Amino acid sequence: MRISVIGTGHLGAVHAVCLAELGHEVLGVDTDSAMIAALAEGRVPFHEPGLTSLLIGGLSAGRLRFSTALADAATFADVHFVCVGTPQLPGSLRADLGHLEAVIDRLAPNLTRDCLVVGKSTVPVGTAARLAARLATLIPNGLNVSLAWNPEFLREGNAVQDTLRPDRLVVGVASSRDDATLRAVYARLLAEDTPYVSTDLATAELAKAAANAFLATKVSFINAVAEVCEAAGADVVTLADILGYDSRIGRRFLSPGLGYGGGCLPKDVRAFLARADELGVVGPARFLEQVEEINGARRRRAVDLARTLVGGSFVGQNVAVLGAAFKPGTDDVRDSPALAVASAIRAEGAVVRVHDPWATDNARLAAPQLDYADGPEKACDSADVVLHLTEWPQYRDLDPVRLRGVVRVPRMLDGRNVLAIEQWRDAGWTVRSMGAA
Ligand code: UGA
Repeated sequence: MRISVIGTGHLGAVHAVCLAELGHEVLGVDTDSAMIAALAEGRVPFHEPGLTSLLIGGLSAGRLRFSTALADAATFADVHFVCVGTPQLPGSLRADLGHLEAVIDRLAPNLTRDCLVVGKSTVPVGTAARLAARLATLIPNGLNVSLAWNPEFLREGNAVQDTLRPDRLVVGVASSRDDATLRAVYARLLAEDTPYVSTDLATAELAKAAANAFLATKVSFINAVAEVCEAAGADVVTLADILGYDSRIGRRFLSPGLGYGGGCLPKDVRAFLARADELGVVGPARFLEQVEEINGARRRRAVDLARTLVGGSFVGQNVAVLGAAFKPGTDDVRDSPALAVASAIRAEGAVVRVHDPWATDNARLAAPQLDYADGPEKACDSADVVLHLTEWPQYRDLDPVRLRGVVRVPRMLDGRNVLAIEQWRDAGWTVRSMGAA
């Protein structure tokens, strides 16, 4: 099939590359000419394991092209996937739908053939119906154009696998014809027995919002339990393992620590609760406010624990921070818990030196007031306390005996609960973790 992918940020680029891998002819379109130039040359402008080789494969097979002209997409494709961002509106909890509306407004009048427009962005429930009405008023007379919603559940750092081997496909459609079109798009995945749920537009939109709200709730639940564990002298990691053995609960997304961040979970929880409020459904909105409140409290708790470790004040202290990305496996620092903690400590008078294996460039732009080091040992040089805030696998392999010779005072806060704490204590470190006494 001839498919356009409009918006080639993280989600769009992955989607375009994977659709070409599934055998379609794909045109990726974005107004960011630097990004389009990079992708057209086979360079992925962000960290996503496995994507570059598939991009190069799609380009050299001639199935994948890129353009900055939306009009090219309008005349080319039978199916248009809209993958533009829906960030949080400044000064509000709601999502900014401006990019999405702009794409519909610019695409619709330029269409020259019957087609299906498919939203993939995460949106407040009701958006798809509104955009479908808007589309209907803007398309040229005589064309048959409809709108569907196909939310995306991929995780950064695992995006290729999540797209080519998804847990499920969800489509919100207004007709069986649109359902058949989307079944054809995903024919290869359906042949591999991927669960496929075809539903109405509103349920498809809510599926994504609810999935992210549930994942956030799971993280905040274990972090709420972590607070109780700290107060009661219990160990939250062992407790999470015990809960995880119950197949009704499961261990995934029960890792306690600094809490969730990134470009999706935080803004999607806020947008979901704002939409629930708009719909007059007060209970769910208050519930999700608590999820957010518990999450924010973890960052403040990390700052408090670190301050206690250095004796009550950060003034004149050297603080080493291991990790800047919002999670390991990505160079994304949007709403990063690690950077938020580092910045708060810097604001209290410490010298803060940060290391991250992939995210330093983005972190420098987001938090230029911090110092950056190109290796973990350099970040820890003469440190009064080391904060482990993003659980990159290489930090688990740090040798506590060797690092003890690098720091000024051997104190460690494990904000992600993955270090072998006994080894560090045996090597003479004072260690605090988030969720144990
Ligand atoms: C999330 C969802 O997992 C995807 O399904 C969804 O498609 C995506 O958002 C999106 O809306 O686009 P992602 O933002 O890549 O994916 O990150 P996650 O892997 O969900 O992690 C989110 C945050 O939760 C991270 O800061 C991570 O450190 C934290 N987390 C996760 C915990 O603190 N504990 C856990 O047990 C798991």
